[in-house]
Amino acid sequence: MIYRRAVRPVLFSQDAETAHERTIALLASASNLPLHAGRSPFTHTKLASSIAGLKFPNPVGLAAGCDKNARAVRAWPHFGFGFVEVGTVTAQPQPGNPKPRVFRLVEHAALLNRLGFNSEGAEIVAKRLANLRRQRPLSVPLAVNIGKTKLVTGDDAILDDYRTSYRRLSRFADFVIVNVSSPNTPGLRQWQEKEKLGVLLRTLMEEARSLAAKRGVAPIPLFVKISPDMTDADMADIVEVALEVGLAGIVATNTTIAREGAMAAVEQTGGVSGAPLRERATEVIRFLHRATEGKLPLIGVGGIASAEDAYARMRAGASLIQLYTAMVYEGPFLARHINAGLLRLMQRDGVAHISEIVGR
Ligand code: FNR
Repeated sequence: MIYRRAVRPVLFSQDAETAHERTIALLASASNLPLHAGRSPFTHTKLASSIAGLKFPNPVGLAAGCDKNARAVRAWPHFGFGFVEVGTVTAQPQPGNPKPRVFRLVEHAALLNRLGFNSEGAEIVAKRLANLRRQRPLSVPLAVNIGKTKLVTGDDAILDDYRTSYRRLSRFADFVIVNVSSPNTPGLRQWQEKEKLGVLLRTLMEEARSLAAKRGVAPIPLFVKISPDMTDADMADIVEVALEVGLAGIVATNTTIAREGAMAAVEQTGGVSGAPLRERATEVIRFLHRATEGKLPLIGVGGIASAEDAYARMRAGASLIQLYTAMVYEGPFLARHINAGLLRLMQRDGVAHISEIVGR
């Protein structure tokens, strides 16, 4: 309420990216203060689960793109998030596309962006995460999302680029998410094709095994993040590759380039997130859950704005969910509200533990 009445109007009077940058800067300074040291994240025995060998205090995560450079990692659990995904980080630093490149579509409860992986680069983000890890343990699992540097071309160079990011960043992550689905980096989505995806994922799994062996630890889980703009046959191929290479899970979905219904009038190029993505992203999760026979953990993301949305996404097959756009509209405590709402819905339906609703 306070957010909608007092904070949002101030933020929405500014360009979307400027408002975002200022918010992140504020959260970054706040998270460097020891104010919330030792404060535990939102947790409840009914919501806590173990997925891909990691312990999640609750199923609501922060989606990629919000804290791209890992500047405010410690702030997010305080708002109720049960895990945090930073990135996309590229191997080399790069500025992204010309501004303006983020737009609010208020009447659609959506955002449109064509940021194009503006990133401080793997080296700087790795240093920041190394510092973070040195201070004190994080209270929630941390995922690092890696993507391709724009100027790198040619398959071998691109594989090397992803491998470099993996090598620099993975030791500071609890799991890594490979992004092959942003619509704003030319050619990126071709890496979702069966053969290329297989090569990319095998390369990274190999790198993971070799790095882990050197350090005498087990390799951390690897996920792939996919787009909503694919046919069922394309998605079936991805499932086949994922199961074959032994991926830990799939994150679905990234933003969409589709402009259906009322969105047809939106002419800006870029990826749409928020409410217009909700139905399609749910369908994708349902498809993946069936195609994997529930064997592969799925992280559902796209248009989740309420506990009902989160509940429906988990019933479609997601073990965990994430959000970003709805937080811009509803405020930072949305994750906390969703967790409280999930507990209410479970009580209503006589569900003893959140894992019971996944895929039901
Ligand atoms: C994103 N998203 C995104 N995803 C990703 O894998 N890497 C990225 O760098 C970004 N960047 C990004 C920037 C902005 C401004 C937005 C709005 C989104 C996509 C995001 O993680 C998520 O998949 C979609 O936004 C759908 O979820 P929501 O926003 O509808 O909850």
